[in-house]
Amino acid sequence: MSETREKVLEVRNLGIDFGGLTAVNNLDLDIYKGEIYGLIGPNGAGKTTVFNMLTKVYQPTRGTIKIAGKDMDKLNPVQANQVGVARTFQNIRLFSNMSVLDNVKTGMHNELKYGLFTSILRLPKYYKLEKESTQKAMELLKIFGLDQFADLTAGNLPYGAQRRLEIARALATDPKLLLLDEPAAGMNPQETEDLMDMIRKIRNHFDISILLIEHDMKLVMGICERITVLNFGQVLAQGLPQEIQSNTEVVKAYIGE
Ligand SMILES: Nc1ncnc2c1ncn2[C@@H]1O[C@H](COP(=O)(O)OP(=O)(O)OP(=O)(O)O)[C@@H](O)[C@H]1O
Ligand SMILES: [Mg+2]
Repeated sequence: MSETREKVLEVRNLGIDFGGLTAVNNLDLDIYKGEIYGLIGPNGAGKTTVFNMLTKVYQPTRGTIKIAGKDMDKLNPVQANQVGVARTFQNIRLFSNMSVLDNVKTGMHNELKYGLFTSILRLPKYYKLEKESTQKAMELLKIFGLDQFADLTAGNLPYGAQRRLEIARALATDPKLLLLDEPAAGMNPQETEDLMDMIRKIRNHFDISILLIEHDMKLVMGICERITVLNFGQVLAQGLPQEIQSNTEVVKAYIGE
């Protein structure tokens, strides 16, 4: 059964050392197409470091990462994004002086499609592709309830809307695997609830896989189909939400936090 499902992420024996500190070690992780997967663990467990390796911001010390079957070893972050992994950050990173629309359009690698000369000389192809990318960006903004803010400066949006915009921008790159680093951080319960619906909607609409780091257990247990728990860079547990919740090692790691 599961063998026939398409594997979007395959991680084996992944690890990274910073000097004498082993931040992540022996990580195995399989994520299938359409899955919503949770990566949890106490502060400093190595969660964001995993994202930095998957996006090739950090070069792993050991192990392999395959995204959609492609070995990521030799790739830089831009190439990793082209293969199909996109992310949001624990602390919002937007171009806060640019418009909401332009923030999404920056995700769209258009310069690669029409080339630098077409862009500089403003050839007809440039205008055609620009129009297409504006249309696509507006569709994305609509899904996130941000279309009416398209011309506003991103930095002026309320906090929750900025977090949604960051997700929209990541999706503009057409990822197969979307990484969300604490998307509910700083949100109130209603915003968190709305975000859960939105994450499900994104998965269904774009038919992608989502790996999310989150401390909000209600969100994690509510939407993740499988979960990996990291503790001091090691896998403490891996399984279904109900298995994770009743795992005594996991409970201990959280209480001991
Ligand atoms: N570039 C780096 N150089 C040195 N140490 C690093 C680097 N990046 C991460 N670390 C260390 O790796 C460990 C894991 O950090 P990481 O940010 O991945 O944790 P986290 O699980 O995301 O925690 P949090 O829940 O607080 O965000 C920490 O001890 C951190 O200090
Ligand atoms: Mg982190």
